[in-house]
Amino acid sequence: MNDSHYDFNHLDPEIEAQVETLLARMTLEEKVGQMNQVSPHWGGGELEDAVRRGEVGSVLNVWSVERINQLQRVAVEKSRLGIPLIVGTDVIHGYRTIFPIPLAEASTWDPDLLERAARAAADEAAATGTDWIFAPMVDVARDPRWGRIAEGAGEDPYLGSVLARARVRGFQSQGLAGGKKIVACPKHYVAYGAAEGGKDYNTVDISERTLRDIYLPPFKAALDEGAGSIMSSFNEIAGVPASCNAFILRQILREEFEWHGVVLSDYDAIGELIQHGVAADLKEAARKAILAGEDIDMMGHAFPKHLVELVREGQVPEALIDAAVRRILRLKFMLGIFEHPYTAEELASQVLLKPEYRDLALEVAQKSIVLLKNAPLEDGGAPALPLQSNARIALVGPLADDRAELLGCWACAGRAEDVETVLEGFRAVLGAGADLTYVKGCALEGDEDLDIEGAVAAAEAADAAVVVLGESAMMSGEAHSRAYLGLPGHQRALLEAVVAACALEGKPVVVILMSGRPLVLTWMKEHVPAILQAWHGGIRAGRAVADVVFGAVTPSGKLVASFPRTEGQIPVYYAHKSTGRPVDERGVIQFNREHKSQYLDESTLPLYGFGYGLSYTTFEYTDLAVQTPEVSMDGTLVVSATVTNTGERCGDEIVQLYIQDLVGEVTRPVRELKGFQRIALQPRERQRVTFEVPVANLGFHGLEMAYGVEVGNFKVWIAPHAYAGLEGRFTVVGSDES
Ligand code: GLC
Repeated sequence: MNDSHYDFNHLDPEIEAQVETLLARMTLEEKVGQMNQVSPHWGGGELEDAVRRGEVGSVLNVWSVERINQLQRVAVEKSRLGIPLIVGTDVIHGYRTIFPIPLAEASTWDPDLLERAARAAADEAAATGTDWIFAPMVDVARDPRWGRIAEGAGEDPYLGSVLARARVRGFQSQGLAGGKKIVACPKHYVAYGAAEGGKDYNTVDISERTLRDIYLPPFKAALDEGAGSIMSSFNEIAGVPASCNAFILRQILREEFEWHGVVLSDYDAIGELIQHGVAADLKEAARKAILAGEDIDMMGHAFPKHLVELVREGQVPEALIDAAVRRILRLKFMLGIFEHPYTAEELASQVLLKPEYRDLALEVAQKSIVLLKNAPLEDGGAPALPLQSNARIALVGPLADDRAELLGCWACAGRAEDVETVLEGFRAVLGAGADLTYVKGCALEGDEDLDIEGAVAAAEAADAAVVVLGESAMMSGEAHSRAYLGLPGHQRALLEAVVAACALEGKPVVVILMSGRPLVLTWMKEHVPAILQAWHGGIRAGRAVADVVFGAVTPSGKLVASFPRTEGQIPVYYAHKSTGRPVDERGVIQFNREHKSQYLDESTLPLYGFGYGLSYTTFEYTDLAVQTPEVSMDGTLVVSATVTNTGERCGDEIVQLYIQDLVGEVTRPVRELKGFQRIALQPRERQRVTFEVPVANLGFHGLEMAYGVEVGNFKVWIAPHAYAGLEGRFTVVGSDES
């Protein structure tokens, strides 16, 4: 057990004995009951009756601690064996204190902060009866059309792994409300974010090497950090749906990872094996899922309806049922819910929305904001941001005074009433005497509230216009993929009109973007002097935006997912392969044209790339030193550089370390993130930043599909983002050569 969080993968002999004793007393029906997870809307009759009969082992998304205690009393006091239920909840970015969406949280590049946010979420969840948090979502996502990019940590496996560990530590913290323990559930296992076309639930057809090098690492990191469960995904992987995929559920999880936790299907995903076309009926779906390694059927009804029959018919060995139930009972003993099944109902009012959690939500929101552009209005002038607090401000746009949308997707028990709007944040920062005019200008989509003239008039009467645009919460998240990534509705027309009005008088226009994904901002980048990506920033989003716009906080966020110039570029991500005809080299001349991997009509570069984000100050990178120009396979790469704050304001900088393996037995990305450090520098202050990276971290799965590092030459960068930086070289040599 770690000193700060629980490791649910650590076996305790005493618990193992308790599990065996209980298992031996169970009937086959009771065992199968433990493998059934239902929601209160399960449609199978009275939930209490099923619980009393021992037909339900866990429930999900029960939003009242009183209701949870009621169901738990039936399980513990009315069923034959008194086995308590595990209560699972989608706590994706907060329970009642809603933090920015996970993609925004990740843009802080601050594992400690994310661990604290996850702990706060777990504390609130514990206080309201949850034992099991269906998070962190650790799907690597390289397609912004996919709505669930909002729920994860973006496009990079290394950053995703670091943040997965932080979130598991936070969720599985010790010392939660009521002494409760909570088990995390990294999801959606696996490669769900690789859906073709960015269309949710769609086909995933990737190589085993891509699976192992890109999509598995964040899951391995989460399980290594002690996560006690995992949720398998809806998608197929190369023809085999995750819910019946023994390669990922047994060979990888059990044999390679040696992991003992519980595998939970996603919602009705076992039943959907029929729609996938790999099961003729629910009975075959149940058989395939249990044989492949599913332990719990979430709302698929396959296990409860058919497992007993399949065992009795000899199609499924009872030993497989026992193995699954053993893992489920082990988890329940580890959670302590046999001894403490109930939650004190007064806890919620003491824990939910605690001031320190509201403050934490503000800190995360402030640090998640990414400054994409901040240009002077005229050559040599001051950049548009921060705005002067005594300026006359026109605040316009559909999200300028909105509450509900700022919660973002998967807002759990969050309430719009808890959200501070941007308008309220501006008023709080500017004070009562502020010259602040608000005009909505248009709706997020559709024709209602259309008042572009009013917005233009407000801009004309002001010194600066702040335009708050973006997406609704439901334009991202599950089942909410988009084929066009521009601004919905009349938002573009509103922005163009305000920009035109302000340009005439040389006034600054600042766009605040609130979205669940990277959008296509190509026109905006050309015509708007300042752009802040504020995401769906949670209950404190409004104040966070105001703090950044008026300079109380210097923006420090950096992108974790690439912003495409156009949908036609997708997928566009930094860690791409070189190809045989890289765009940045002279191509092969055929038919008097250079032939190389590029478009005729668009750049191959993203509009804003991975790791990118500006500050109100500037940073200079100098004096790269590779302290280990030759390093052995079992050695440590040591590289350093000096970072100087060359501006007039203090600021945080997220310094990044990238490598490139120049020659491998298989092709390798042109860059891979292998380290980052967040540093705070006063004006003119400089800091020597040193990275120490075990060479073992520089490996990949080679021709034989074994992980390893190859000897050979590498490039290394210490950089502000994935497309810049100071470049050096080093060589990995055989252990006996160094
Ligand atoms: C949903 C989601 C999953 C969630 C589960 C329970 O379909 O895919 O992320 O945890 O069902 O709500």
